[in-house]
This record gives sequence, C-alpha cells and structure tokens, in this order.
Amino acid sequence: MINAIPENILIEFSRLVSVHTGLYFPEKKWPTLSKGIASVTDHLQTDIYKLLYSLQKTFPPKETIDLLTDRLTVGETYFLRDKNFFQILKDQIIPGLIRYPRRKTQKMVFWSAGCATGEEPYSLAILIDYMLPALSGWDISIIGSDINRTALDKAEKGIYSNWSLRETPEPIIKKYFTLIGDNRFELAPHIRRMVTFSQLNLMSEQYAAYLNCHDKMDVIFCRNVLMYFNDSNRNHAIQNLVRSIVENGWLITGPSESGFVNAPELTPVRFPNALYHRKGPSRQSDLPDLPVRVTRTNNNYNSSDPQKQKISLTARHYTRRSTDTKILTGPEIPKYDIYQEALFDYSQGRYGQSVEKLSRILSGGPNGSLSFLMRTESMILLAKAYANIGELDHARTWCEKALSSEKLNPELYYLLSTIHQSADDIDAAVKTLKQAIYLDPEFIMAHFTIGILFLQKNMPLEGAKSLNIALTLLRLKNPDDVLSYSEGMTASRLIETIKSMTATG
Ligand SMILES: C[S@@+](CC[C@H](N)C(=O)[O-])C[C@H]1O[C@@H](n2cnc3c(N)ncnc32)[C@H](O)[C@@H]1O
Repeated sequence: MINAIPENILIEFSRLVSVHTGLYFPEKKWPTLSKGIASVTDHLQTDIYKLLYSLQKTFPPKETIDLLTDRLTVGETYFLRDKNFFQILKDQIIPGLIRYPRRKTQKMVFWSAGCATGEEPYSLAILIDYMLPALSGWDISIIGSDINRTALDKAEKGIYSNWSLRETPEPIIKKYFTLIGDNRFELAPHIRRMVTFSQLNLMSEQYAAYLNCHDKMDVIFCRNVLMYFNDSNRNHAIQNLVRSIVENGWLITGPSESGFVNAPELTPVRFPNALYHRKGPSRQSDLPDLPVRVTRTNNNYNSSDPQKQKISLTARHYTRRSTDTKILTGPEIPKYDIYQEALFDYSQGRYGQSVEKLSRILSGGPNGSLSFLMRTESMILLAKAYANIGELDHARTWCEKALSSEKLNPELYYLLSTIHQSADDIDAAVKTLKQAIYLDPEFIMAHFTIGILFLQKNMPLEGAKSLNIALTLLRLKNPDDVLSYSEGMTASRLIETIKSMTATG
C-alpha cells in the first residue's frame, strides 16, 4: 500500500535513492517514489524494511538498483528530439570538429550519457550517415549509456514504435527503418552497428573503464538527465563529465539545463535557441561560423501581416526542470533557477509572472551576481514578456538595454523591430530590420519581414526585392530546415508562402 510507507522511511528512501542513482525525490515527488518502492518490493517479494536495509549497504545488490532505477527513472525520448540541436550539430559542431580536429588522428568520439532507449545516439548515427561524404576517412565511435538496464536492452534491439518516430520526417523513416509488424519499425542494421551501449551510473567514478573506451570524448550529450538530480549530484556528475571531454570538446545539455552547468573548465557558447559548453578557454576559431547569438524570438508567420504576429517562444524548446517549491521561496535561490522559472512561465503564456521574476533577478544592478550571459538572456526574455502583455515601452527599454550589451547582435535588432511593429511604428521597424540585415545579410526572416513591411508601405519594388532575396537564401537550405525566428516554419513552407503571396499580387 502506497500510503502505508511512513514519512521517516520515505525520507530515508529518498536519501538512499539519491546516493545510489543521483535521482532527486523531494516531498512533492514522494507519491512517485512510494509507487516505485511498492513495485520493487512486489517484484522482489520483500517488504520495505528489508529493501531499505539492502539499500543502506555501500554496495546494494545490482538487481535491486536495476529494478529501482527501472521503476523511478523517466525514460521519455524520441528520434531527433529537439531538431534545433541536430541542426546545430550538423551545421556547426561537426564541421568545427572536422576543420579543427581535437586529436592527432582523424577520430571522433561521441557519448550520449543517459540515452534511455537509444533514440538519441541512433539519431546521431543517422545524422553521421547522412553527412558521410564529409566524414569519410574518419573513425567515428558513438557510445550510448544509461543507468537503466531494461532501457538499454530495448536500445540494443533497435525496434521502435510510431511514438518514438513522432518527430522523424517520412523520408528518414523510409530510408532507415523497416516496418516489421503492427506499429513496429526496425532500425537499419548498419545504423545499429554504429552505436555501442553500456550500463553506467553517472554518479559512479571511472567512466572510461565502464564505457570500455580509452579516449576522451569530442562531444558528450547529457540531455534531459541532469534535471532529475539535485544540485550536489548534478555538480558531481558534471565534474565527471567534464573530466571525460577532450580539450575543446563539447558538453551538450538539454534546453532547460544549460543554466546548471557551472564549471570553470567550460566556456558557454551561444547558438540559435541554445547554449552549449566547450571545454577550454574562450576562442574564436573552432567553429566554421562562430555564433555569438541570443535566444531567438520565434514569430508566428502563419499570418502574412507582421503586425499581427505575436512575439512568442515555443514551449517545446523549454522543458521544466523539477523544482522543489520550497526552494523557490528561499532567499538563497541561485538566479538561474529563477530564470528557468521565468522561462517556463513565459512558455506557458504567464507573461506577468515571467516579468515579475525577471525584474527580480535583474534588480541586482549591473554588477549583480548574474553572469554577463544570463544577464543579457534575462533582459531579452523580459523584453519579450513585456511585449506580450502590451507594455511596449518597457519592452523597448529592455531590448535596448540588451542591445547596449550586444551591439552587433542582429537578432536583437530583429526583436526590436517586432516591438516597433507591435507599436505600429513601421518606419522604426524597417530601420531596425535594415540594421539586422546589415549585420547578418543572410538573415532570412529579416528579409521576409522587411519585404512585407515595404509592401504595406506601398513600396512594391523594394518589397519584391526583399522577398526575392529571402527566396534566394531559402533555396540554399534543405526543404526541411527549420528557420530561426519562425516558430518552426520550414524553408519549403516559407518558399510556398512567398510564392503564393507574389502569385496573388
Ligand atoms: C528523459 S531520459 C533522456 C533521454 C535522452 N537523453 C533524451 O534527451 O531524449 C533520462 C534518462 O536518464 C537516465 N538516468 C537517470 N539517472 C541516471 C544516472 N544516475 N546515471 C545514468 N543515467 C541516468 C534515465 O534512466 C533516463 O533513461
């Protein structure tokens, strides 16, 4: 019986689960913990006291830990989860590794730490297969690891349902999967062979020995895993991960997890809609196109009237980290925690609450304890939140403050232009879009938006010219590429939109 576990016993279980697995079960997650414990005791035909006793040993039986993790971990994952990330990998990170190899031989080692049922490392294997001409001659290893043995068994089989393929484009399914039964898809054997799986607890030491790999990693993905740990376990895992990365290699965390990463060996690097960490001091030369960018605003271009476009940020890019509500009220909350909360509020449309939290973290003055990076991120989010509640003067002020920190950032000019559009100040919007285009002549959405504004201003020649530039740039992209600042719109869809607009005059 779930309710029958006394509170003091649950507290001890919560502590022991954290020690052995890193997983964090604060009071509000006790119902889940209780259910997991009940399932383990049922399976082992034992009672909670015997289970507790076995967990109190320094090395509890492996079967017990395996069962416990199977019942308590969240294994949610799917192929190509976070397309933005795979795009950055394809366009920026892997080309950077090719151009500036991290070791003397042509070798790359990738590690998906916390891979659950394998969709993440297999997605990488598919990407590498797709990029093969550029990678021929390279020796590439991909390792997937997880604490959950049952999940790894499934990964090794390589058989998935539709649900795992929910974000996978049809041509990729056709190319890499075979339908072998009702809603069962088998991954191509040559992709399966590219990944090796190992069981590994991120709380343990001696990672390399566990992974049977003597090389350090060029890229570690540890996405949507750290969010289930408490601060001290998270820091412990991050330190171990950092030790496993080759100099100038990458640590990639999930969309809401980059704020957790705070290691002196790492330098944060911003990409469109993402922030990842590179081991080593800041440098300018190891990406083919070094991004110095802010989180992009995603505008809804379903309407062809930019004035009707609401400044928005898609929730799917921001999953919420589990947060103990008690922590939220304490005065010692790290500021990035409040930032994550503000981000989550924003993604849920609670703009007022987002404003309140961001104002709080920005009130520390210019030299407050927020890092420079987080400070600018917070200003940008605050500008967007104000814009969405119609407080356009405040929105403009915060956007301009962010711009004074990042004067050469085209995306901030783009954000400012959307605020001007909302205030019906089309001339100012055009002016700021011109600045965005000056700084980034390949900024497709800026060309598209300015084209529409020119048409609205009855300047058809200028409008047609800008839309044509957007079309030319769009044709250089893959049809499925998702455009930055477009709320998920693909290149092919924007081409269709522009064509239908020009067809209707
Ligand atoms: C939500 S899944 C993430 C899967 C994949 N990385 C993704 O983003 O789609 C989280 C995974 O972390 C694993 N995990 C949790 N604690 C772990 C630990 N201490 N060591 C290794 N893996 C752990 C869980 O078993 C689960 O499979």
